Amino acid sequence: MSKIYHADPSYRTNAHMPDYYEALWRFKDDPETYWAKVAGELVWEKKWDRILDWNPPYAAWFPGGKLNITVNCLDRHVNDGKRNKVALIFRGDDGGEKVLTYRQLYREVNRFANGLKELGVKKGDRIVFYMPFIPEHVIAILACARLGAIHSIVYAGFGSEALHARIKDSKARFVITADVSIRRGRSISLKSIVDEAIVNASTVEKVIVHRRSYPPIELYSEMEMDFNDVMKGQSHYCEPEIMDAEDPLFILYTSGTTGTPKGVLHTCGGYLVGTYYTTKYVFDMKDNDVYWCTADPGWITGHSYIVYGPLSNGATIIISESVPDYPDPGIWWEIVEEFGVTIMYTAPTAIRMFMKYGEQWPDKYNLDSLRILGSVGEPLNPEAFEWFYRVIGKSRVPIVDTWWQTETGMHMITTLIGEPMKPGFAGKPLPGVEADVVDKQGNSLPPGKTGLLVIKGPWPAMMKGIWNNEERYRHYWSQIEGCYTVGDLAVRDKDGYIMILGRSDDIIIVAGHNLGTAEVESALISHETVAEAAVIGIPDPLKGNIIKASVILRTGFEGSETLSNELKYHVRMTIGPIAMPSEIKFVESLPKTRSGKIMRRVLKAEAMGLDPGDISTLED
Ligand code: PRX
Repeated sequence: MSKIYHADPSYRTNAHMPDYYEALWRFKDDPETYWAKVAGELVWEKKWDRILDWNPPYAAWFPGGKLNITVNCLDRHVNDGKRNKVALIFRGDDGGEKVLTYRQLYREVNRFANGLKELGVKKGDRIVFYMPFIPEHVIAILACARLGAIHSIVYAGFGSEALHARIKDSKARFVITADVSIRRGRSISLKSIVDEAIVNASTVEKVIVHRRSYPPIELYSEMEMDFNDVMKGQSHYCEPEIMDAEDPLFILYTSGTTGTPKGVLHTCGGYLVGTYYTTKYVFDMKDNDVYWCTADPGWITGHSYIVYGPLSNGATIIISESVPDYPDPGIWWEIVEEFGVTIMYTAPTAIRMFMKYGEQWPDKYNLDSLRILGSVGEPLNPEAFEWFYRVIGKSRVPIVDTWWQTETGMHMITTLIGEPMKPGFAGKPLPGVEADVVDKQGNSLPPGKTGLLVIKGPWPAMMKGIWNNEERYRHYWSQIEGCYTVGDLAVRDKDGYIMILGRSDDIIIVAGHNLGTAEVESALISHETVAEAAVIGIPDPLKGNIIKASVILRTGFEGSETLSNELKYHVRMTIGPIAMPSEIKFVESLPKTRSGKIMRRVLKAEAMGLDPGDISTLED
């Protein structure tokens, strides 16, 4: 039984959502009124006719409603007394800073939108982004949305093949990029990758390049245009395109740990309502918060919780181009101290990396400004939770472990800041979300039984399709009657808290027992010598599968046969004999996607001498 943590009662008293059960009851009593109240806090050009039309698996949220999301992210704050509030603080890899108030951001977005319009961009056009994380990235995203163009952001760490595939699939007319991104003090060319990616991509008409280096790189062809030239001489106001609630807002290709990437489609109305709602209540966003999400706009976390959710709440956001350990592993904590970050949202992979470097780094800085910590992307195993809670949060700051997906668009399961925290458990479904743990037939499972995590019924920020692939969309809703199958394994406790055990395709069946890879990895990481671990199942004639583990040790420890046996014994004692790895390999690094997910199938292919398949999303 793991420990339970309680935040100071003042968190609850002062929270936007002080009482989970009261909100849940209001939702259950009348879902439509519940969502209408949230949507009513936003600006609509025309009010919706109905809250929801639900013809599974197709949902229309707020049909009849008309709006532009940028009016909610910009115009209303400029008009509502937040004109001179800081909207965005940028901190560059070299320590350089740039600050934009809401008024300034609004004007830049409008100017860029007018420039795009002059180039012929119109509603429904697809615009692919391949940008570093600089303020212009955010400006361009909002400018697209202002015109009703559909942005499709490709993380600027992907290679030209992955970029090409996404440009082709979305039939993009425009590409927005920069000459370079800057990482660890080094310039990495983005433009040359775009050059390769647009060969044989005949839909692309223009490539807009933000030139950062001096002297500026030459732009050669007719197709190429400078980012600042697009804005030059443009007026500070661009009439927003009035969108139907269900008009597309963006396509985002999922990171693709398995199979080919899918273009997840999100639309304007429901997505705004869902991201606004969760930012307000999960992060308890208040006017004087300084919010830092360490993700990149190339991931859904960047879309929902750097751009649309926080800006629709009128928050001050920090964006940073810096990696966690350059110039040294203290940089993130220096940023927290320097800017007085109050809410910090990051990923377990980063937390585990900091654990490896040791407490001396965060200990150099004053982290008193922090009031909420968040985690997303993978299970936050209890050891990482405890470290984050104790070393960063000084045993005072609540942690929200948010479970959600590119497809869900918004947070779905987490613990609200006033609720007891249980390390290892993401928490309960948010009011408005109906989640369950079921068997393959869709029967609810009792506490303690591992099963498939499903969502019953629609939610506002749900994806509305897979671009060019109807069947793949339907598949999510067709595996279990009436349910959206998320593809994760989970288990619930008696209080309804949900623990995510990893992807169901990451399940290993050993002698008839289902084991989530995350479960075994978590057990390994709970050993004092282990920094990171990945486990895979290797077919075995006797047991069906045996477990093989790859382990990165913490600094100062060395792999040996004795340690290997100790770790096996440790897993045996933590989970049970069935979970004991048959083999432990000590490694320096693990194959990961650029979003930090371990690509277990690459390890598996390697262990079995097979072809690893598509590795275009693999980092280096
Ligand atoms: O397996 C779950 C894991 O990440 C998957 C979704 O990945 P993606 O679409 O790339 O979105 C990541 C950012 C939202 C989920 O199916 N996942 C995400 N958050 C958590 C998580 N696993 C455990 N705990 C979480 N908090």
